[in-house]
Amino acid sequence: KKVKLKIPATVANLVCGFDILGMAIHEPYDEMEIGLLETPEVIIKHKDQFGLPEEPSKNVAGIVLLKIQEHFNLQTGFEVIIHKHIKPGSGLGSSAASAAGAALGANIVLENIMSKDEMVHFAMFGEELASGVRHADNIAPCIYGGITLVKSTSPIDIIPLNSPDLFVTAVHPQVEVKTSDSRQILKKNITLKSAVEQWGNIAGLVAGIQKNDFALIGRSLNDVIIEPVRSILIPGFDDVKRKSLEMGALGGGISGSGPSIFMLAEQKETAEKIAALMKSIYDEMKIESFVYVSKIN
Ligand code: HSE
Repeated sequence: KKVKLKIPATVANLVCGFDILGMAIHEPYDEMEIGLLETPEVIIKHKDQFGLPEEPSKNVAGIVLLKIQEHFNLQTGFEVIIHKHIKPGSGLGSSAASAAGAALGANIVLENIMSKDEMVHFAMFGEELASGVRHADNIAPCIYGGITLVKSTSPIDIIPLNSPDLFVTAVHPQVEVKTSDSRQILKKNITLKSAVEQWGNIAGLVAGIQKNDFALIGRSLNDVIIEPVRSILIPGFDDVKRKSLEMGALGGGISGSGPSIFMLAEQKETAEKIAALMKSIYDEMKIESFVYVSKIN
């Protein structure tokens, strides 16, 4: 048995919801082919130029499949072909796509032996391998679709949210920001005042998403804790954000741990204008960039 899957890119955090909110988008996406083998081995092949490791225990998809194999005591194995289009290190959930895709594909070829939460559980081993942390804010929307709230990872408690009819523009400037580094620089302690402000933003954002209240979404997309620290690693961040808002974006910020930046807009034309703006800002800085306009998936 063999399946071919499209696995979406994801925008984690959604600005104020560090490690708990995330959304799947249409573009870019990875393609994965997963087949069942009669022997208990895991074979990973990459059809891309990124030079990612193919040894199963060092590969984000491979480790997920090894864990599934071990847990269910399988006598069968998996062969996986990955066509990676979501660039590693972009902040658009490249590792999560491989990890979640492996879990989703395995579940299909094994005829639905796992619940969505079990797939999240196994996919988190991939994230741990990639960044050292078992976070599920990219994996959950990959597996559930749309926007998800990770209420807790231990025990796994995922709340799928509404998907407002909004456009997402994302830019990936070609500068290296490693998730592990951009986590390391974060403050370990925050003041009660900032915490209260952030709670207000997160609660407002979730309420706005559930009520399709775009104005509320816009004024809740504020981050007083993570963005001020991380944005220093992203050249052009302030310019992209300020000018996108002037052009009519509802709001936005760093996608995952960066360097990608995303903006939400109500109209396709606004989203496309923001895409052109983002590209021109990086062209001027002589930094190569990739821009995507999509919808919440
Ligand atoms: N929530 C994670 C972070 C996402 O911001 O570090 C990383 O992809």
